[in-house]
Amino acid sequence: MIQVKDQVYYLGLRDWELRNFHGHELSTYNGSSYNSYLIKDEKTVLVDTAWGPHADTFLDILNKEVDINKIDYIVINHAEPDHAGTLGKIMEIRPDIPIYCAPKGVENLKKHFHKDWNFRVVRTGDTLNLGNCELVFIEMTMIHWPESMATFVKGPNVLLSNDAFGQHFAGPSIFEDECDPCIVWHEAIKYFANILAPFTGLIKKKIDEIVSLNLPIEVIAPSHGVIWRKDPLRIVEKYAQWADNYDEGIVTIVYDTMYNATKKMAEAIASGLESKGILARIYNSSNSDISDIITEMFKSKGIIMGSCTVNNGALRSIAALLHEIKGHKLKNKIGAAFGSYGWSGEAHKDIHKELEDAGIKVVMDPIAVKFQPTDQEIEACVNFGREFANFVKQK
Ligand code: FEO
Repeated sequence: MIQVKDQVYYLGLRDWELRNFHGHELSTYNGSSYNSYLIKDEKTVLVDTAWGPHADTFLDILNKEVDINKIDYIVINHAEPDHAGTLGKIMEIRPDIPIYCAPKGVENLKKHFHKDWNFRVVRTGDTLNLGNCELVFIEMTMIHWPESMATFVKGPNVLLSNDAFGQHFAGPSIFEDECDPCIVWHEAIKYFANILAPFTGLIKKKIDEIVSLNLPIEVIAPSHGVIWRKDPLRIVEKYAQWADNYDEGIVTIVYDTMYNATKKMAEAIASGLESKGILARIYNSSNSDISDIITEMFKSKGIIMGSCTVNNGALRSIAALLHEIKGHKLKNKIGAAFGSYGWSGEAHKDIHKELEDAGIKVVMDPIAVKFQPTDQEIEACVNFGREFANFVKQK
């Protein structure tokens, strides 16, 4: 069994093959892991489980490490099936085990499993003495679901943070300091941008609250990806930055195109931005990964989107992406729209409006060309990029 620290042990499993999560909503090129933890003290506690499809593997791991009959308590930090999915199988064996969870945890677990188990409701600041260690519960509402919470193991001083501070990453080690930092930090911000970005207001407050609790955190062990044991507050500091109107001063340009007219406009706009010292990343949304685009948009100050008009609207990959952006509630971004058209020309106007509806501050009127752009129209797109660059610099 891998020891995390003192009486805290890693019981999770790494899912090397996972390439999509939340159905097919999120890409996971580097797999993921479902980290659960065992605390061995005068009382034995299991914290979280694993996703249902891995239930048999998880039970094999669990049975090797502990006699299920000797588990005194289970803590469920989060009812989502990737962490609570194996709870039903454990409770079939030991239906009497007390389950500690947040108030909404009872409601959500009952709705998942349709069982009335021995629930023990806990709130922020409630404690559970295990002998040497003491558990301190911290509600983490909407990080990621209403019932989410974290459990601090006082003594070894390990914060079992569940989704918070996690990444979808099945690495060569479960410890961050033994993995490639480029991959770890990329997966951490991708996770934040795609899963937690809608809740940045709550995350800011929660980080302040955790800091005010003065917990002597020595290790942060989330339920996905690697464990932060070397200077663990680095990831907390990053969350504080990411939750605070984050951007890296860059621009993301996304287009879809039928005969490359809109693509030419995108490239011209990018060259205008670059001429003013603003770097732009360009994606064709029809053949790019939406999770990657959302990550790049999260890092960006500016979002510029374009489509040609077909059947009185934007191409479907752009329409889908606009829907996605609205749900992610990206904060403090500026935007603009562009596109080519043949006759009616609605797409660029629709994109402009949809960006506004998504909370993006649209700073320029859309630019459009009829069929293929002339040299003068390409120059106008370059100037469009230059003008947008000025707005980026204003911040
Ligand atoms: Fe990893 Fe919100 O579950």
